[in-house]
Amino acid sequence: MLDNDDWWRDAVVYQVYPRSFADANGDGVGDLAGVRDKLGYLRRLGVDAIWLSPFYTSPMADGGYDVADYRDVDPLFGELADFDALIADAHALGIRMIVDLVPNHSSDRHPWFQAGLRDRYIFRDRPNDWESIFGGSAWTQVADGQWYLHLFAPEQPDLNWENPVVRAEFRDILRFWLDRGVDGFRIDVAHGMIKAAGLPDVGPKEGRQAEMLGGEQVPYFDQDGVHDIYREWRPILDSYPGGRMAVAEAWVSSAERLARYVGPDELHQAFSFEFMMADFHAKSFRTVIDKALAEAELVGAPTTWVLSNHDKPRHVTRYGSLARARAATLLMLALPGSAYLYNGEELGLPDVLDLPDELRQDPAFRRSGESRDGCRVPLPWTGSPGCGWQDPWLPIPGSWARLSAEAQEDDPGSTLSLYRAALDLRRRHPALGGGTLTWLDSPKDVLALERSPGLVVVLNTGEQPVRPEFGGRVLLSSGPLADGAIPPDTTVWLER
Ligand code: NOJ
Repeated sequence: MLDNDDWWRDAVVYQVYPRSFADANGDGVGDLAGVRDKLGYLRRLGVDAIWLSPFYTSPMADGGYDVADYRDVDPLFGELADFDALIADAHALGIRMIVDLVPNHSSDRHPWFQAGLRDRYIFRDRPNDWESIFGGSAWTQVADGQWYLHLFAPEQPDLNWENPVVRAEFRDILRFWLDRGVDGFRIDVAHGMIKAAGLPDVGPKEGRQAEMLGGEQVPYFDQDGVHDIYREWRPILDSYPGGRMAVAEAWVSSAERLARYVGPDELHQAFSFEFMMADFHAKSFRTVIDKALAEAELVGAPTTWVLSNHDKPRHVTRYGSLARARAATLLMLALPGSAYLYNGEELGLPDVLDLPDELRQDPAFRRSGESRDGCRVPLPWTGSPGCGWQDPWLPIPGSWARLSAEAQEDDPGSTLSLYRAALDLRRRHPALGGGTLTWLDSPKDVLALERSPGLVVVLNTGEQPVRPEFGGRVLLSSGPLADGAIPPDTTVWLER
């Protein structure tokens, strides 16, 4: 069943944020057995692969992105045997498994940091002016007066990738999980491991230094040396059968810079965050899609689309309505390349904006007042009070019973049904994920494109209904059509 080495090129990958997905043991935190219980749901949804956010041993200072043991499962989530059972069942259902790899930093509870092995981290006698992505200085002082670098929380010391021991360790970690059967890795902060020689000051800048999209280069991100690491990793991935892959989480300043992470001797994919951050408008979408496709073509790799993840407000909330979110989803799922879904978007979940401050767990909240907890609220499974959870780690709004998977299951107009129908059509029309894209002439505020001869996608971001000239049979629509016209905030897939 899993015999196509190029599976990732047009794959639909479903991101599971383990704490929030499904809780099998009733402790209020999702776990690996919970994911295993929901494999039937994911199969029915029609995804090709799961990306599991970190489930490794961790003090959870940053939701598991602070790893204390890269080769084990945190007791919150289960044990290695649960992982093995999960991957075996997923594979039996034809679902691949991608795991998160966090190489830029470890936890401060990692044995290396605990043992004071300073050459494996970045210690200096004096800090420079670098700021943490989570706010405040990127340096923390230890008892003897030295300082260590942490681009994220103080509990996440940056590893020293100039040290060959660090490099060898990560090559070994890759093999550890490849041997356990994983199909790929999502590389956390893939643009971060190499810092400019001498750690030069950034100097005065407006706003947060790390706000990179469209911004300038900073000496701790997107340094050329990072590509040597991927050129070391690629032969390891290629030495395993079955199309093992890696996708970069790289926040860099342009589509050109992003394309440098992918190719036959580096990584397979890199998320197009410019698409995720585009305004809900025909022109903005067209601009970023054109740029992303042009760059992808140069390096011979497909584009990797994403609308939501565990770090940004969900697209229902960003665009301000479920109708827009559904329309954007149908656009994304008709673009050439691979698409990543974030758990709960198939239910049309918004962010929870009124979480009490004392319950917020994102380390960024204490340092900057910004919090990603709103998009990490556990998924509502049932329509009963509690939505299938007992005392979840973040409270689930009572109103979410209506959005639960159970409530949406048999409703043909539900968002869950829309996602299922879209993924089903994507499977039956391989040209939807592959092939080429041709823009069709369309009125202002309307995006019209042709995928493979005969499949037309139209998105109306304007304020008036439009009646497209390209007739055809409606395969799928993100919302009700008004007498053949496409209302505002609606995408239609047509077959002619
Ligand atoms: C990116 C991850 O997606 C985010 O959740 C995390 O806080 C940082 N990297 C640090 O690992």
